[in-house]
Order: sequence, then structure tokens, then C-alpha cells
Amino acid sequence: MPELFVVYDVVHKLSGSSQTLTKKNVIIACIIFTLVGTTWKILDIKKANRKAEIAQLPLRERGMALLEFEGCTSCHQPGNPFRAPILDKLHGSTVSLTNGTKIIADRDYILQSILNPKAQIVYGYQGTMPAYEDRFSQAEVDAFVEAMK
Ligand code: HEC
Repeated sequence: MPELFVVYDVVHKLSGSSQTLTKKNVIIACIIFTLVGTTWKILDIKKANRKAEIAQLPLRERGMALLEFEGCTSCHQPGNPFRAPILDKLHGSTVSLTNGTKIIADRDYILQSILNPKAQIVYGYQGTMPAYEDRFSQAEVDAFVEAMK
């Protein structure tokens, strides 16, 4: 959320006024500030509602919805391995790593791939995935794993 004085500064620059503080610009800045703040709050509530909704879904659907909600699908696009590996059917498959070894993608591997992706990098990719460390609960990790079956 931007600070009120930042909003004022922008309004002031756009208005081209030579005075440092004008009543009109203060009022405009306050109105914009309130509108932006309200929109921000509504988006926050919507996000929280969606998260609560997702938590009610059966495990696999929950995992699929989380992949979308958490932005994973912006890299892991279904059916498209260009930016990141395809996650569908990953569980139980054999993955080649950049260190030359192969590994079976079990729950532990998937868990580590999400929490600390740089530990094992999939062959053919760079370590560009962000680490999610403590972001997800056990139940959420289970949902992810289920979505990758
Ligand atoms: C910025 C792009 C990006 C985002 C966002 C991203 N990933 Fe990744 N992910 C990658 C790349 C690239 C790899 C392959 C390199 C590696 O192993 O780290 C990868 C690897 C993985 C792997 C191992 C895949 C395999 O074939 O062994 C899993 C599991 C995974 N990501 C899950 C997730 C989940 C779950 C999320 C969201 C919470 C997520 N990723 C978000 C880019 C991304």
C-alpha cells in the first residue's frame, strides 16, 4: 500500500503546481488514497476467501487449485515444459538431475523441490524456482503431491 505522501507527490507533480502544498492536491490525494486503500482491502478479503474455499476442496482438487492460486502455473504450465517441468504425473516418475543422478519423485523429493528447489535441480533447467521454505502446511504439501499423481 503506497503512503499518502507518495500519492500526494504524484498528484502534485501531475498538477504542475509550483506551490509545495495546495488544498486541492491534498484533497485529490486523500480521495485517491482512500480509493486505493479500499480496493486493496477488498482484494485482500477476496484472496483470503479464495484461500478458505480452496482449503475445503478434496485433496487433489485442492492441490490443483493451489498450483494456480500460488502462481506455480505461471512457470509450470500444464502440458508445456518450456519454463519449468510439467508437474502432472510427476509423483512416482524418474527424474534426471543436473548432477547426473536419477531419482524417483516420491513425497520427500517433491517436498524438497518446493521448499528448497536448489538442493536438486532437474536436468535441462536452471535453478530459477523461488524457495517456498515455511510457506506451506503439511496438508498443503499433501495436496500438491496428490495433484502431481
Ligand atoms: C519462477 C518459476 C517457477 C515457479 C513460480 C515455480 N517453479 Fe517449480 N520449478 C521451476 C523450475 C525452473 C524447475 C526446475 C529446476 C529445479 O529443479 O529447481 C522447477 C522444479 C519444480 C519441481 C521438481 C520438478 C521435477 O520434474 O522434478 C517441483 C515439484 C516444483 N517445481 C513445484 C513447484 C510448486 C508447487 C510451485 C508453486 C508453489 C512452483 N514449483 C513454482 C520453476 C518455477
